[in-house]
Amino acid sequence: MNRKLEMTASLEVIPKNNWTVEEAMLISKAKEILEMAHAPYSKFLVGASLLLENGEVFSGNNQENVSFPVGVCAERAVLSYVMGNFPNTRPLKIAIAAKRMGETSYAYVTPCGMCRQMINEYEIKFGCTIEILMLNGQDEILKAAGIEQLLPFRFHNLNC
Ligand code: THU
Repeated sequence: MNRKLEMTASLEVIPKNNWTVEEAMLISKAKEILEMAHAPYSKFLVGASLLLENGEVFSGNNQENVSFPVGVCAERAVLSYVMGNFPNTRPLKIAIAAKRMGETSYAYVTPCGMCRQMINEYEIKFGCTIEILMLNGQDEILKAAGIEQLLPFRFHNLNC
């Protein structure tokens, strides 16, 4: 007989008046750096900021290329830099914001599949969850407690 495996994923929706100081700071850094993204092809500007366990914050943005697949997302840009330079410092939270070029309001964004898999990698490496904070168009943060909320049935173990 066939069985069904089910998994529930959930995000917490946090209105602006409930953001912590840390959440507001991370979203603000993501908003700031998205303005410097190189996105002449999609015209979709994305910024990501990463909080480390020592309190340091780094940020990155999407860098597109005329050869489209060469482009890199904001999340992978910041994770590559930070995890390369501070390989032993645990990442706690990543915040993401986006905007369409020429618009003033923010666009709803969640990490693409490749970025989800990369966040998953550092959860495995450090044995801890990484919070993902995503800004939507209504000034709310959608908070995922860890990558499992965005990547159920994720690939995280080569032995099974
Ligand atoms: N992009 C990101 O940087 N992060 C995401 O989470 C979603 C997509 C970028 C890739 C590409 O440069 C542009 O947004 C449009 O897909």
